[in-house]
Amino acid sequence: MNAGLYFATEHIDELSLRDQTVVVLDVLRAGTSIATALSNGAKEIIPVNTVERAVKISGSLFGDHILRGGERNGRMIEGFDLGNSPLEYTKERVDGKAIIYSTTNGSRAIDKARYARDVAVGAFVNLSSLLGFLRDADRDVVILCSGNNGKFCMEDSVCGGMLLHALSESAGEELVMTDSALAAVALYKSFGRSIPKMIRASEYGKYLTGIGFSEDIEYCAAVDSLPILPQLVGNVVKLKTEKHPATYKVQTVKAV
Ligand code: MLT
Repeated sequence: MNAGLYFATEHIDELSLRDQTVVVLDVLRAGTSIATALSNGAKEIIPVNTVERAVKISGSLFGDHILRGGERNGRMIEGFDLGNSPLEYTKERVDGKAIIYSTTNGSRAIDKARYARDVAVGAFVNLSSLLGFLRDADRDVVILCSGNNGKFCMEDSVCGGMLLHALSESAGEELVMTDSALAAVALYKSFGRSIPKMIRASEYGKYLTGIGFSEDIEYCAAVDSLPILPQLVGNVVKLKTEKHPATYKVQTVKAV
């Protein structure tokens, strides 16, 4: 099995992901919010790239079982029902709802993976479920880090490195990693000793704290707090199975 990783999605040729098994990661905060919404009973998440498209789609869908969620510059989009703090996606708000969802990086990264064979979405909160998904894949795997406006971001890269490190621990010799995958594992070994500290010190972590979302940092850093596997089915993200048994457990790097 070959394992690759993209630090950002800007320059990805979507067709190159055909027949691959892909995990899309967005720690701050799309991957975390999607896992939270689905674990709180949301029916499906409909990722769209633009606000205009979100308004157009929600305009044509009637009834109160549709919500619009997402952000620009970390803040709720005007006229939407939800921003992108995972703490907003409570059972009271999202149970039974479909969410039309647009964010700066995460929803675009999911769209980039639309030609892939199997796609799962997540972050630290559902890492062992993502590991199980990759372990069960009988083909090459690719990690897509959503990044930050097309650029590298620490939190997604360390998360990708942690997942690949766990995959190599459980797959042994079988796993052949690309240079970027090996680089992500090295980042995890350096910065993965305290996930909350790493996220708090990241560029976007500091930005979100600065605009009042410090609670999101702790929530997004909670490894395996949501044993759930959001998957892309057609153009929506939903749960194919109720609960994805965490057959494989991600071990954190032992503090030296
Ligand atoms: C994104 O997708 O760009 C992030 O999730 C942004 C955010 O949550 O602020």
